[in-house]
Amino acid sequence: MKIISTGGGKGGIGKSFFSANIGGLLSMIGKKTLLIDLDTGGANLHTFFGITNPKTGLEDFLNQKSSLKDCIIQTRFDRLFLLNSKNCTADLGNFSYTMRNLLSKEIKKLNYDYIILDLGAGTNKNLMDFFLLGDFPFVLFTTDPLSLENSFRFVHRAFICKIMETIPSKKLSGLFPQGSSFRPVEILDALQKTKSPYYQALKKSLDDFYIYLSASQTDTSYETITTVEVFYKKFFGDNIVFSGAIPFNPEVRKFTLQRKLFVSGPKDNKTVKGLMKIVKSLI
Ligand SMILES: Nc1ncnc2c1ncn2[C@@H]1O[C@H](COP(=O)(O)OP(=O)(O)OP(=O)(O)O)[C@@H](O)[C@H]1O
Ligand SMILES: [Mg+2]
Repeated sequence: MKIISTGGGKGGIGKSFFSANIGGLLSMIGKKTLLIDLDTGGANLHTFFGITNPKTGLEDFLNQKSSLKDCIIQTRFDRLFLLNSKNCTADLGNFSYTMRNLLSKEIKKLNYDYIILDLGAGTNKNLMDFFLLGDFPFVLFTTDPLSLENSFRFVHRAFICKIMETIPSKKLSGLFPQGSSFRPVEILDALQKTKSPYYQALKKSLDDFYIYLSASQTDTSYETITTVEVFYKKFFGDNIVFSGAIPFNPEVRKFTLQRKLFVSGPKDNKTVKGLMKIVKSLI
């Protein structure tokens, strides 16, 4: 089972569109796939499937009425399932430590080929923990300067959270004061220089850690995307993988209005091809 997580810091950049349609394509190529709406304060994954009145959802698990497995419903597509959050009232960021741990433990016990965690905007601790649960943690960005700033902060925070899985936060803030924009390699260098016992463990943890970046709703400003790629590579090194672009398509709106999944329509366009390229890199 592989977990894909979708983050990006900013709202409205296409995270849910990405999650729903990647899920649709995976199911169409034969993979049993579960979408989990973890944007509990602003859930809308159900809308991509025309589901208006789900008989159950994540709230039943949170209220201890059902097991996680029993909160899952089938979409209108074969092999594509949904754990919706339509009736959730609490923001993921406000989940207790115990609830967050229980939820991630139960997610890992499920039996699917792929699970996709659709996250909301922001970088709160709970959101970052679910993001890091991904075997394929995806960060989406648009070429809008506001989104670029947020996606960089998101990726940087993801690295800090990842590093703090290995190094206690006190030790880390001793090396780098809070708020400083250090590069992961600088931490490794500092640990190696001081012959820190954390060096080997962190090196091992970062050796097979990758964040997948994808440009969303792109137009023709490929120059900006190339600049972003160069910048991220310089800053984060080989831990960043560029997965390509998902071009903006005016037809998307028609599908959303009809509560239909975009990839269930014609496939001969750049947007579906961009999504398909990403799916192929996951299998
Ligand atoms: N490639 C695309 N072409 C055209 N429209 C798109 C594309 N991707 C997303 N959209 C549209 O952009 C809007 C925002 O997308 P979406 O809801 O997926 O963003 P989000 O990042 O999940 O936002 P939030 O953080 O608020 O949940 C939606 O109306 C969606 O249909
Ligand atoms: Mg969303």
